[in-house]
Amino acid sequence: MSTGRFITVEGIDGAGKSSHLEYLASAIRARGAGVVVTREPGGTPLGEKLRAMALNDPMEGTTEALVMFAARREHLVRVIEPALGRGDWVLSDRFSDATYAYQCGGRGLPASVFETLERLVHPDRQPDATFLFDLDPATAYERQRAQSRDPDRFEREAAEFFRRVRDAYLDRARSSGGRIHVIDASGTLDTVRDRLARAFAKAFA
Ligand code: TYD
Repeated sequence: MSTGRFITVEGIDGAGKSSHLEYLASAIRARGAGVVVTREPGGTPLGEKLRAMALNDPMEGTTEALVMFAARREHLVRVIEPALGRGDWVLSDRFSDATYAYQCGGRGLPASVFETLERLVHPDRQPDATFLFDLDPATAYERQRAQSRDPDRFEREAAEFFRRVRDAYLDRARSSGGRIHVIDASGTLDTVRDRLARAFAKAFA
């Protein structure tokens, strides 16, 4: 049986990561592997309920981090580990790097609290590779506005919030030992896809 890999995509709202999920899934299938495409917060029935709360109901910062990690624990135990155990690949739209970026970078949650929760919830699991779609917050905001759907609680945050989130993502990429691949998400969809294809080929050469 082939060995499953755990892949995540990250980036600030509007960076365009979700547009590239299907491409990544097909690149994985082209290698002959099964792939489970999933997302956070969410990915399980309970996780989707927690997602609706996290995205819509105002809550205190530590509560927000706990909700993200509660949804993550369900996701890990019920979806991610079983899929990897079967030899499938898992492709998740966000994982713990998002908590580091949004809750620590954006909201000011201490990194020590994040690390404690991370150790509790997934002590033995990290993504094998993460593709971080990096874009300046002004361009990301324009892209998001063009989608013309009701913004959620995070999407309504000010540009300064997204600058902090972006910086936290980039800091984490720098200290990830090569796990996090930063993709320049400026330019057309095709241009970004080419960059992603190169990064994917490099990660799984
Ligand atoms: P997102 O993944 O961007 O979905 P959509 O494309 O449907 O808007 O939305 C999830 C939001 O949740 C996003 O604003 C980031 C936020 N989030 C956190 O703040 N912390 C986390 O740990 C996770 C997983 C997401």
